[in-house]
Amino acid sequence: MLGQPRDFLPGVISMKHRTLLAGAGVAVAAGAGIRWLTRGPDHDAAAATLWSHRSTTGSLEFADLVHYATLAANSHNAQPWLFQHTPVGVLISPDFSRSLPVVDGDAHHLFASLGCAAENLMLATRAAGRSSEIAFDPSGAGRVQVAAGVVGATRDALFDAIPDRQCTRCDYDGRAIGTADRMLLQKAARVDGCELLLIEDLVRVEQVLELILLATALQASDPAFVAELRSWLRFNAGAAVDSGDGLYVACSGIPTLPTWLGSLLFAAFFKPAAERERHARQVRSSAGLAVFVADLDDRAHWVQAGRSYQRFALQATALGIRHAHLNQPLEVAPIRRQLGALLGVGDRRVDLLLRYGHAAAMPRSLRRPVRDVIVAA
Ligand SMILES: Cc1cc2nc3c(=O)[nH]c(=O)nc-3n(C[C@H](O)[C@H](O)[C@H](O)COP(=O)(O)O)c2cc1C
Repeated sequence: MLGQPRDFLPGVISMKHRTLLAGAGVAVAAGAGIRWLTRGPDHDAAAATLWSHRSTTGSLEFADLVHYATLAANSHNAQPWLFQHTPVGVLISPDFSRSLPVVDGDAHHLFASLGCAAENLMLATRAAGRSSEIAFDPSGAGRVQVAAGVVGATRDALFDAIPDRQCTRCDYDGRAIGTADRMLLQKAARVDGCELLLIEDLVRVEQVLELILLATALQASDPAFVAELRSWLRFNAGAAVDSGDGLYVACSGIPTLPTWLGSLLFAAFFKPAAERERHARQVRSSAGLAVFVADLDDRAHWVQAGRSYQRFALQATALGIRHAHLNQPLEVAPIRRQLGALLGVGDRRVDLLLRYGHAAAMPRSLRRPVRDVIVAA
């Protein structure tokens, strides 16, 4: 346990940079009296259909493989990917129309997200009985190839965990994780060109938290950052189901609202002080921090960092361990360098930062239909 969760407003648990309507005003405004205004398509039914295995027999079509790929974590749930069936397997291309120019100006998170999708796709290909390899296309197009190989591969426990994984953005219960679980997480995250650091020392956690809070305050004061984030928030079930993308506020325990009201209140309540307090509480209720550091700072290695993280997340899920991202200090270049110096990673870029621990599940995120992300060969 990293520290005692401090007092907070029950029912108004907000989330990182992605969904935050902290403050009592929101809770009041979002009360039962206006809930009827947010009626919409059934989010729970859509989520239950989405987050399920496609085959119990081991036979998987191309669309099924893409289904598993799209269940990967991805920044802002923008789903910046397109999938193409090729003679050797599947080609994943970046969809730059879904990039995040403010928070992710160099497309680092976008390529890490492609790595997450590639890892799921590789696990699914193997579950379907074929060996599989991931390669980054060096041509400059930024594509990732997941090639299918010989028959004889077997289903992995990480594959089984794909439909259960989620980023869980709530306060955790403060319980530590055991040594055996820590070792399994380290082992699962092993990917060429990428290192995982697990931080549980209280002093070091507080030092990292300082930088998280610094970056959080900067981002929450930046109108461009706030506007971009707001454009990806889905304030009610209808908006979440209609778009199939973005950050559904209920995933962070935030009451749903009509879009116009949610948008209005977000602007009023997304403030640096509230954000800092929420992140401090969430870090101190976690068991530890996980840091992913790739050998080089280029697209190929950002993909590797995403793969390593996705494997960590699936192993954690299989062990009943939750996680959530805290990438704010990595999104502000000078603070990212400060964090790198603090962690002694030399010239390497810190790619991803998250917390892990124990908590109950939160509502699920959604995805766009598979047909929307498949492109013809
Ligand atoms: C590269 C990358 C960066 C991310 N950064 C953050 C972040 O800073 N804060 C956060 O709350 N979630 C972050 N996420 C998590 C995504 O928002 C999350 O995966 C997405 O909303 C879909 O939700 P799910 O993973 O629960 O399916 C990140 C995910 C990836 C892959």
